[in-house]
Amino acid sequence: MATTPVFVDVDTGLDDALALALLSRTPEVEIVGVGTVAGNVPVGFSTENTLRVLSWCGIEDIPVYRGASRPLVAPYQDAAHVHGGDGLGGAMLPPSSRNIADFAAPDALVRAAREYSGRLVLITLGPLTNIAIALSLYPELTEHIHGVSVMGGAYDVAGNITPVAEFNIYVDPDAANQVFAAPWREIVAVGLDVTHRTILPRRGWEEAAQATEPVAQLARKLLARTFGERDMTGFYLHDPLAAAIALDGSLVKTQKRRVAVVRDGEGRGRTTSTAGGDVAVATKVDAARFVRLFNERLALPHIDDTGAAARPE
Ligand code: RIB
Ligand code: CA
Repeated sequence: MATTPVFVDVDTGLDDALALALLSRTPEVEIVGVGTVAGNVPVGFSTENTLRVLSWCGIEDIPVYRGASRPLVAPYQDAAHVHGGDGLGGAMLPPSSRNIADFAAPDALVRAAREYSGRLVLITLGPLTNIAIALSLYPELTEHIHGVSVMGGAYDVAGNITPVAEFNIYVDPDAANQVFAAPWREIVAVGLDVTHRTILPRRGWEEAAQATEPVAQLARKLLARTFGERDMTGFYLHDPLAAAIALDGSLVKTQKRRVAVVRDGEGRGRTTSTAGGDVAVATKVDAARFVRLFNERLALPHIDDTGAAARPE
């Protein structure tokens, strides 16, 4: 089977971890590199978490590249209230035996784009700082990348970190503006408009208590705080959906729009969009098909309950 080379940029966090697990169980994907960035937690944590999650999934050969420790301009803000102070809900995964690779994440992305020119798919699951730096270092980056799937934005719905902004875009609005304005071959914006419809219900986690597959046990460990201490009824699968869309665009309906991001003030991180641009903004999702795919790939019991309302994050 021909595989698709994929570079993933993460701020590992809980749903980033689940997205990496999903990709590791997707046969048509070859993850050629993972870049880390400050987002859910500081970059030291997101980097260590990424190594530990990949190691738990039996992956020791995919290079992990540490990236930006803060946004381009805006003051950094984390999401520890959702992901826990360590970024993995206190799951205490065993440490990985390996270190990060020598290059910084933006440089590694440029190298991968050149090596897999025309074929590389970029999946971004955190603030877009590394991507903006890579574009600054190497504006021709867009010519080498086949397509980009961005988890970020809130286009026709409310935000999750402020009433108007989604977290990834809020953390680095300047980087997001630069990324959305770049001349990608293809870019899909996977915002809260669709990710808030893809929910792992509490019952699915509860019924995975006897799971034996390591990836299912990973989900159990990662979400213990979410469904225990935080008593949530569901968990939003933001990053796993953005990862899945990169490989199967038929999961969503999109509208081509021009996207701009408010850089500061009350509206910081707000994604405004008008018809007729080059960004494919996801407006509808086949949530049932995606959640079923997610559960199958992570060996989780499938509970047909995507209506589970996950309380505000
Ligand atoms: O708003 C959700 C996004 O912000 C997800 O990528 C989550 O991991 C956080 O980074
Ligand atoms: Ca993320």
